[in-house]
Amino acid sequence: MKRINVAITGFGSIGKRVATLLMARHQDYRQRFSLDIRITGVCGASAGLIDANGISRERLEDRHSFVPSVTGPTFIDCVPADVLIEAGPSDFRTGGPALAYIRTALRRRMHVIAISKGALALDVEGLLNESHRQGVSLRFSGATAAALPTIDLLQYNLAGCRVTQVEAILTGTTNLILSEMMDQGCTFEEALQNAQRLGIAEPDPSYDVEGWDTACKLTIIANAIFKAGFNVQSLPRTGIRHISPNDVQIWKAQGLMPRLVGFINHSGDATDGGVELRLFPQDHPFTYAHGKMKAIRVVTDEMGELCVMGGASDPLATAAAALKDFEHTLASMP
Ligand SMILES: NC(=O)c1ccc[n+]([C@@H]2O[C@H](COP(=O)([O-])OP(=O)(O)OC[C@H]3O[C@@H](n4cnc5c(N)ncnc54)[C@H](OP(=O)(O)O)[C@@H]3O)[C@@H](O)[C@H]2O)c1
Repeated sequence: MKRINVAITGFGSIGKRVATLLMARHQDYRQRFSLDIRITGVCGASAGLIDANGISRERLEDRHSFVPSVTGPTFIDCVPADVLIEAGPSDFRTGGPALAYIRTALRRRMHVIAISKGALALDVEGLLNESHRQGVSLRFSGATAAALPTIDLLQYNLAGCRVTQVEAILTGTTNLILSEMMDQGCTFEEALQNAQRLGIAEPDPSYDVEGWDTACKLTIIANAIFKAGFNVQSLPRTGIRHISPNDVQIWKAQGLMPRLVGFINHSGDATDGGVELRLFPQDHPFTYAHGKMKAIRVVTDEMGELCVMGGASDPLATAAAALKDFEHTLASMP
């Protein structure tokens, strides 16, 4: 049976779940794809493991078995892998460690599944071009709202028609805060503290509440699908910090629901977009996207208007979205 070796960079909350799911599906993949999937390398910030025969579950779970300095170039230059799953930190200003991992993996003709957003937000077009040059795939559902299909919807389901508008709720944390403010009458600070208590918002919530997370995901989608040339740092962007109890009272009286959305308008050769706080009437589907829910609405010339909502918004769903990409990658292998 043919072997497929997988490397994982970034072995935190998501990377570990990806490894667990891969191992749990080992037998299933043997049956469905006639492939023997092995994890041959994992690394964190300062240590990692490489074993060309495959790493056992026990060694993956024992951080003491990790070898110091098996990370960075030492790791990605040597790991014997057909597929890289990148789950390290997201840094949209520099691309973070993911940029070098993905570039090297593509140059080494590995298929890549990216879950971190920074490298893609900075240069998804360049990375896609490199993947085409090398004849391998680059997929990134985990980086573009995970359980909510965004890239797949635009690339596969709506292939064959012209997409003119995209509008999407892409960040579960901000949607949860807005929902709490509207439904429970909380202030922004109270709703944020609640989200932090539940472990949904980060201790430093600025990336989410200032709209950067939505801007990164939108940039990746726009640049990958429309070659829009968006730059995260110059994209028009608003957050939700400024919303006051008075705003909430007025919107409630008017029957309007606030949602932080990323939007893309695509007409002719021009594409523009940004991140905005938009107010939706009672009968709009986004009004029903409560809590951590995400949603995407797409307008096309030929297939009309579509809306997809829901999907879990947590680490397991993100890991599963990466495995969706992995299965598509396996299915496309000769
Ligand atoms: N959490 C979610 O629900 C979610 C959803 C969608 C996308 N994402 C994205 O997925 C990525 C991972 O998220 P997470 O929640 O798993 O974060 P996390 O728990 O903080 O894990 C990050 C991992 O990256 C490792 N790392 C840091 N620098 C590295 C380097 N130079 N080389 C290799 N590994 C390095 C860390 O290593 P150490 O363990 O040694 O510190 C850690 O294992 C992030 O980019 C995030 O934006 C997360």
